[in-house]
Order: sequence, then C-alpha cells, then structure tokens
Amino acid sequence: MRTYLLFLFYALLCMACSYSQDNKASDPVADTQAEKDFQEPHRPQFHFTPPSMWMNDPNGMVYLNGEYHLFYQHYPDSTVWGPMHWGHAVSKDLIHWEHLPIALYPDSLGYIFSGSAVADVNNTSGLGTQENPPLVAIYTYHDAQGAKAGRNDYQTQGIAFSVDHGRSWEKYTENPVLKNPGIQDFRDPKVFWHEDSKQWVMILAVADHVELYGAPDLKQWRKLSEFGKNHGAHGGVWECPDLFPMKVEGQDTEKWVMLLSINPGGLHGGSATQYFIGDFDGKTFTTDQPADSTLWIDYGKDNYAGVTWSNVPDNDGRRIFMGWMSNWQYANVVPTSPWRSAMTIPRVLTLGETAQGLRVFSQPVKELEVIRGETTELKKQDISESINITEQLSFPVTTSELVLTFEGINSSQDFGVEFSNAQGQKLRIGYQHGEQKFYVDRSAAGKQDFSADFAGIHTAPRMVSSNTVKMHILTDVASVELFADDGSVVITDIFFPEEDFNQLTLYSEGGAVQLASGSVTALQSIWKETGTVQNDK
Ligand code: FRU
Repeated sequence: MRTYLLFLFYALLCMACSYSQDNKASDPVADTQAEKDFQEPHRPQFHFTPPSMWMNDPNGMVYLNGEYHLFYQHYPDSTVWGPMHWGHAVSKDLIHWEHLPIALYPDSLGYIFSGSAVADVNNTSGLGTQENPPLVAIYTYHDAQGAKAGRNDYQTQGIAFSVDHGRSWEKYTENPVLKNPGIQDFRDPKVFWHEDSKQWVMILAVADHVELYGAPDLKQWRKLSEFGKNHGAHGGVWECPDLFPMKVEGQDTEKWVMLLSINPGGLHGGSATQYFIGDFDGKTFTTDQPADSTLWIDYGKDNYAGVTWSNVPDNDGRRIFMGWMSNWQYANVVPTSPWRSAMTIPRVLTLGETAQGLRVFSQPVKELEVIRGETTELKKQDISESINITEQLSFPVTTSELVLTFEGINSSQDFGVEFSNAQGQKLRIGYQHGEQKFYVDRSAAGKQDFSADFAGIHTAPRMVSSNTVKMHILTDVASVELFADDGSVVITDIFFPEEDFNQLTLYSEGGAVQLASGSVTALQSIWKETGTVQNDK
C-alpha cells in the first residue's frame, strides 16, 4: 500500500507539471557524451537498460520472425515512477538490443501498466488478416484519476495490435476488453494459447490470488477459475503472474509452473517472485505443494516481476525468463542517472529433481557466448586464505563471468570470491557448508545511505547434496547474478561501489577448500560508441 501511495504521489506531481496525454514524451535520445556511450557511473554494460529515465517491469515479451521483443514499464519524463508507457526494444540474440520508439502511451482510459503480447497467428482477434496476422498486446489500464477519487474499479484490461512486426501499435477501439468487478488490484495479464481447450487463457493478478480467464478471440473474456488465496506467501499484493507447461528434465512428465511476484512480503523484504508447480486442465490450476511452502525463483533481493517470452519456436523449445533487477523498497532512489534500473540477464528455466523435490532451475542463455572475450583458467589449488588473482587477468573484472568448482568441502568452511576496490568496499559471493547456504554479502559494497533497506546479506538454502559446490557468477558494474549448483539456486543483487570493483580475491575461512577448476572470462560491452545498441552478432 505504501508503495502505491508513493506511486500516487509521483503521479500527481507529474500530472501537475509535465504530463500530457498526447504523444509528447520523448523517444529514446542521448544528450550527453556519457549517455551516448552508456558509460555513466554504475551503467551496466551487458544488461538491458533504457537509454534514459525510468524503467520497471519487463512487458510484452514475444518472439517473432527472428526478433525477441522486449517492452517495459517506462516513464520517459523522469527517473522516478510516473505515468506508465511501454518502452520497446528488440534483439536478435537476447544480448544486443536495439532501442525502438515508445510503443504504447497513456490514453483517456489510463496509464499502461504491465502485460503481455502474443502472436495471433490465426488472426482469431480479426485485428490483422490471415496473410498478415497481428501481434496483440494485452495490458492493464490504470486510471489514476479513478484511483485518486477513491474508486475500486480503476484497473481494467485493454488490448492493442500491430501488423508491422511491432513497429507501430494501434489501440483496440472497444477497450477495455475486461472490466473491473470492483477490486482495486486487478492487473498484469499474461496470455497464452492453450491448444487442448482451443482458447486463449489469461492469468491475472487479483490482490491476494490469481484469476484465469478464457477467450476465443482475445476480446471476449470469461472467468474460468481462481487460485492462491490459501497458497504461498501473502505478505503483500500479488503481481505479474505467468503460467506455462514444462517437461521435468529426463522424464516424460509435464507439469505447469506458475510465477507470481509479490510486493511487499518478499523473502528478504520488499519485492520477490515465488512460484508454484502443479497441473492445469484448461480451466483450473491445482498443486500438491503444501499450502504454507513458498518457493522462490531467486533468493537475491533484485529480481522482480519476471515473466517468460511467448511464441519461442518449438524447435528452440526454451522457456526464457527475464526479470527487473530492482526492488520497490528502493527502486526510485538508487544512485543512477540519467536512467534507473536494468533487467536481469535472460535466463532459461528448466524443471529438475533436487534433494528437496522438484525445483525450477535458471541458467543464463547460451547466447551470452557472443560477448565472451578472453578467458583465464585458474589453476587447481587449495585456498586456505585470501588469494588475490587480479594480476593473473589481463582484463577488468568489472564485467566478467566466473565459473568455479570447489571440492574438499567441510562444515567449518566459508568460502567464495570477493570483488573489491581501493576504497575497501567489497562484495562477497560465497557458500557456508555448516549452514548449507549460499550468500551474497553487499553490506560493505559501497553506497547504501539512499535506503535503510539496501545493505545486507542475502542467503539461499542449498538444493542439492553433493561434495562439489559450483558457482557460476555474472558481474556487470553494479550487479551480480549467482547461479549455484547448475542453477538450482540463484541470487541476484545490485550494488553501487564509489569506484568500480577492480580486484578479485578467492577466500576460504574456517579451513582450506580446494578450487578444483575455475575460469574468469571477460564479458564485452553491448553498447556501441554511438549509444545505439549493436544488433548484429
Ligand atoms: C509491478 C507493478 C505491476 C504494475 C506495474 C506498474 O512492479 O506494480 O503490478 O502493473 O508495476 O508500473
């Protein structure tokens, strides 16, 4: 609620000064040289960021004709949240992005909140033709004036369509396509085609549960079922759901996975994304998961509102996920300018057995290889104290990938890697075998006075029991993503050192551990000198 009061405050402020409902908001432009080069302090070099101004949730992720579309919650007039638009970018490889003009502007029905996009290949909506079927975006209208007036029906669902591969968008004239039944939080539609029941299915976040709707044509939605009032975490509002089938690795079994973001009430405070594993019969989602057990897609503090791409071709078959790398506790005040927020690296989700039962695994997409530069192999060695390995590398560790395998584990050890700078600021990514916990410790990683909720150590329980501990780490100027034990545990955290981390140290406390194998690889910037983004491999 607090977050939404804050939203409302910003919204009113912006309406009072600069907001207008025509298409006045500027398209992505770079003014200063630093902006052109995407070289400002804390600017990620291989993660997606908007050219400038505010960004939150990824939206409308859909693959079409060799392009991955990424839309995103965007306020082009400020670096804080405000009247929401859909920003837009495309990529051929999920790594290099080309920024495109804003796709959807607020209109008389409201701001354009989160939602999804589908390729309506059979033109069920009639918004394109059989020969040229449309892309259809399904999103939430947020009527800020209705909210201000204390109404409870100010969020409705609308659609827009494009018949030129997402380059221009037209709103459907009969919007909204799904009215509000009198519930304040009624938003973030994710739509998919369900072949068995031959209908479009929409999953919608409704305060403390989700609702499923079905439609033959993306326009006439009727309610199918509800799920979740008595399942999972309920410390805040449910937002940004997703629902999709997955094969269990190495088996023929198919299960359905539901992603569900929650704010506040996340694992470490503020925002986080939980998931459920179950079955879906075209009408109802069911799960055997104990009602009070909560599974988290990420154990860090900075992966929110993540959903998956639709229309990825069957011969690819991947379930590709991307989240917003921030947290509503401090997203509006992190020390970056003239842009705010980055997305996670795109990740492939799989479903696998662990010592704890079925779990969703995440791994960075293989396309990351297009930006891999030089690699330094680390020698097999015992680590009984801190070993600074920076001198072995001929490239900066600021944007790099580490793949480390540790053996000789015992319960007194606490080991991992530390990034640091000359000012004594440091970030630790490690594992404590006594507690069977991975962690990212950003408590001394630099700037933190912008929010009392920022500094801290974020831990994750280990999912597999093995004498080998694996850490796959991506670090990009101001973020770290740990994929531990083949992606069974993920921790995503952002950080803001006063100067970039340029030292890399291996450490073990409480006894020696063996580094069985290790490599450090330079990851190259995706930005061109001109500030546009390379979209050719
Ligand atoms: C999640 C969210 C969504 C909403 C959007 C507004 O971060 O609160 O529920 O649609 O952001 O920008």
